[in-house]
Amino acid sequence: MTTIYPVVWSNNKVLLIDQTCLPSQYTLVEISRYEDMAKAIKTMIVRGAPAIGVATAYGMYLGAREINTKERETFLKQLEEVAEILRQTRPTAVNLFWAISRMLKIAYETIGTVEEIKNTLLETAEKINAEDLQTCQDIGKNSLQIIPPNPDKLSILTHCNAGALATAGYGTALGVIRSVWTAGRLKRVYADETRPRLQGAKLTAWECVQEKIPVTVISDNMAAHCMQKGLIDLVVVGADRIAANGDAANKIGTYGVAVMAKMHNIPFYVAAPLSTVDYSLKNGDLIPIEERDPSELYQIGDSVIYPDGVDYYNPAFDVTPAKLITGIITEQKTVKPEELISLKPELSYH
Ligand code: MRU
Repeated sequence: MTTIYPVVWSNNKVLLIDQTCLPSQYTLVEISRYEDMAKAIKTMIVRGAPAIGVATAYGMYLGAREINTKERETFLKQLEEVAEILRQTRPTAVNLFWAISRMLKIAYETIGTVEEIKNTLLETAEKINAEDLQTCQDIGKNSLQIIPPNPDKLSILTHCNAGALATAGYGTALGVIRSVWTAGRLKRVYADETRPRLQGAKLTAWECVQEKIPVTVISDNMAAHCMQKGLIDLVVVGADRIAANGDAANKIGTYGVAVMAKMHNIPFYVAAPLSTVDYSLKNGDLIPIEERDPSELYQIGDSVIYPDGVDYYNPAFDVTPAKLITGIITEQKTVKPEELISLKPELSYH
């Protein structure tokens, strides 16, 4: 079990692990206002689709708490404004929009005073946090059924960080790896460094080190070589948004890893909660892809590493087509991408 919880409600405020400071510093940031939560999401103090969803849910409560009226209609109108500010933070991770819809729905459906609606919103945020932890553990448990019998111990490659830090705790892709490790079936994790923000080198590697899971960090351009040399038995990654047909958006570079895995006949799995599936989108072409500030590319620390006069392009995510995905591991079961539609919940918050 992991003890890394990136979003915690404590003493009437939210404590976030500042993921921009890891691995050199473990710092907690206190958030009491929804505008600060929006900023924390935008600047990636909290990141990873499910963790963003949990943080957003608390952000909605913090916003609700600040609304100073007893009038239900005025309250709901101002809550919509809070939702809009939170929606403007990061466009790709659908869990953010999922959490906002769920929080708004409960606010509209709660019969009672404004104070009672506020209490229900806090309870719902707490519930979303607890549910996500359980969901990740279920994903980990389900993954044990798809682990090939050979070799006895597997080397698993992952990209970015889909770990405890990216969820309520435990992780999706790294949750799978944790479960395989606990089952005694893991030889080693290969963690892609994950340019430009280095979530693999900084966060996945840090989580593995905390739990003494053997980890080798490679730069992104080494993955094909490792596969060719027979060092990788399986790939598992997380997702930020999965379309109804199984096309999956994840951290930039994931698509390349999937192409390489196909070339080398290595199983390529996506591990994600159903809250990451956007059934309203027919395919991955419709997934909005965030573009971030180019300084993430051209600057390392205080040093500018590119010459003057170049142009930049910094998409934060790419879409892996369903045909490259061996299976999607969810909290319910593992399905082929084309079977994802069979898991569509009756009540959807997308
Ligand atoms: O830009 P980030 O760090 O928020 O991107 C995170 C990822 O791409 C993760 O792989 C994804 O959110 C899945 S997290 C369980």
